[in-house]
Amino acid sequence: MAIEYALHKPEPLPFMSCYICPVCGEPLEASATRKHYQCPNRHSFDLAREGYLNLLPVQHKHSSEPGDSKAMMQARRAFLEAGFYQPLARAVAAMVAAGQPERVLDLGCGEGYYSRFIEAHRPDVAVHGLDIAKTAVAMAARKQPGARFIVASSQRLPYADHYFDLLLRVFAPSNDEELKRVLKPDGLLLTVTPGPRHLWQLKEFIYSEVRAHAAAGELPPGFECLTTERLHYKITPDGEQRIALLQMTPFAWRAPAPVRQAIKDAPELEIEADFVLTLAKKTALA
Ligand SMILES: C[S@@+](CC[C@H](N)C(=O)[O-])C[C@H]1O[C@@H](n2cnc3c(N)ncnc32)[C@H](O)[C@@H]1O
Ligand SMILES: [Zn+2]
Repeated sequence: MAIEYALHKPEPLPFMSCYICPVCGEPLEASATRKHYQCPNRHSFDLAREGYLNLLPVQHKHSSEPGDSKAMMQARRAFLEAGFYQPLARAVAAMVAAGQPERVLDLGCGEGYYSRFIEAHRPDVAVHGLDIAKTAVAMAARKQPGARFIVASSQRLPYADHYFDLLLRVFAPSNDEELKRVLKPDGLLLTVTPGPRHLWQLKEFIYSEVRAHAAAGELPPGFECLTTERLHYKITPDGEQRIALLQMTPFAWRAPAPVRQAIKDAPELEIEADFVLTLAKKTALA
């Protein structure tokens, strides 16, 4: 636990961080000022002004700005801050708290909405967040200085083995082997996926025939399900907020300008929000 707050509370120096070097895999150690991290092979990484670390080496990037764009992130933050997904955030925070973790990692954390809820609900939990989109991580870090955010890919997690008690994935990609590697034995994996009716009324603008989402995806091998909870309710965002919501979906690209306009101009529109929360435990053999 002491290491977790090293950025914010004085600790004896030097101290080993939870991070491993994304280039060579050796442990990363913080400098005396804690503004730089370096491995024994002298690969070094600077803490950004906003307080996050960029641990995504250029050679691991598949594009110059991977992940969601700044416009998408700002739209997401505006929509989330309006409270439409607050019931989900509360349910996530409650499930996390019930697991009594010391260290939590929010994978594909975006602009940090769920990370903030976890900290607000359980200030004693050390919250970490990771996303491949630098803009998202910068936004998250600026708003939650008590948490530790990094730019990295879920495909290669730059954390030490068995570091976390709980991993959170809210509509985010991940790598099965990496999930198991960074989780402690008995560690927990909380996944949020779309429920069958998620955003049905928005999809009706786009698809001639809307199909229900398949039931929650399969768990990665080496995990067993502890509980599943479905959260289903209606929201009534205004025209602008509907466009922000559309931007957050993987089907936004299917909506040409006239469809977007129709979504924006529609009179009051109730939209179903439908989520499945799956809490799983790493099995002994994993
Ligand atoms: C649908 S968004 C969900 C964001 C956040 N969990 C939320 O619900 O607000 C998916 C997120 O995953 C990120 N992402 C995509 N590929 C990634 C990868 N390989 N590693 C880490 N993050 C990734 C995107 O940048 C984006 O922020
Ligand atoms: Zn290194």
